[in-house]
Amino acid sequence: MKGVILAGGTGSRLMPLTKVTNKHLLPVYDKPMIYYPLQTLIDMGIREILVVSGPEHAGHFLSLLGSGKDFGVRFSYEIQDKAGGIAQALGLAESFADQESVVVVLGDNIIEDRIDISDYRGGALVFLKEVPDANRFGVAELKGDKVVGIEEKPARPKTRYATIGLYVYDHDVFSIIKTLKPSGRGELEITDVNNEYIRRGKLKAKILKGFWSDAGTFESLFRASGLVEAKRKAERRK
Ligand code: DAU
Repeated sequence: MKGVILAGGTGSRLMPLTKVTNKHLLPVYDKPMIYYPLQTLIDMGIREILVVSGPEHAGHFLSLLGSGKDFGVRFSYEIQDKAGGIAQALGLAESFADQESVVVVLGDNIIEDRIDISDYRGGALVFLKEVPDANRFGVAELKGDKVVGIEEKPARPKTRYATIGLYVYDHDVFSIIKTLKPSGRGELEITDVNNEYIRRGKLKAKILKGFWSDAGTFESLFRASGLVEAKRKAERRK
C-alpha cells in the first residue's frame, strides 16, 4: 500500500513559531515533527510516500527528506496551493494512488502504537482515541462498537472518542472528495469524507492503545514533546 503525509496548512495556531518555517518542521522533543508520522508509515511497511505541503516551505521539506534513501523509502511531493482543508490536500494524491488504497497520516500527529492493518479489506478505516478534550477533534458517535456518525469539533461531544489523523481509504475516496462542499471554516473536511463512508456502510474503526497527540497548538506541541521524552527515557531504562 502507498502512504500520504499531509503537511500543508498554515499553522496559524502556532504563530509566531510558524512565521518563517512550517509547523511540521518544528521540533517534537529530539526530531522534526514530520519524522513521527513518517515513522508510523515506515513501521506499517509502507515504502512509497507522497508528501503534500504548501508552496512556502516545500523546498525545506525537500532539503530535510530528500529522495527518501536515508529512510529506506521513496518520496514524491505535491503542492497544495492554498490551505483548503485536509480532504482537499488528500485529493492531490489521486494520481499518486494510482487506483490503489492509501494510508493517510496528518503531519502533526504523534502516534505511539505500531499500526496493524493486515485485516483491512477496503472502504475506510479510522482510528479512535479516548481524550479529555474531544471538542477539539472529529468525534465519533458510537452504537456498540460501530461508528454511526462523526462530528467535527462539536461544542457538546457525544463521546470522548476522537478520530485521530490516520486513515485508510480505498480509491472511492477521490470521487467522494470531488462531491464535497467547503465547511463553515471554508475547508473540505475529512470528517465529511468519513461520514460518506459511514452512509455507505463502509467505515470501520479501531481503538488505539498507546499515546496519541496532535501538535498543532502550544499545549499539544508541548505535550507531544513530553510524551516522546518519557518514552525515550523508558526505552533507555530497558
Ligand atoms: O488531529 C486529528 C484531527 O485533525 C481530527 O480529529 C479532525 O477531524 C481533523 O479535522 C483534524 O483537525 P484539525 O483542525 O486539528 O486539523 P488541522 O487544520 O490542524 O490540520 C491537521 C493537519 O492536516 C496539518 O498538520 C496539515 C494537514 N493539512 C491541513 C489543512 C487545513 C493540510 O495538509 N492541508 C490543509 O489545508
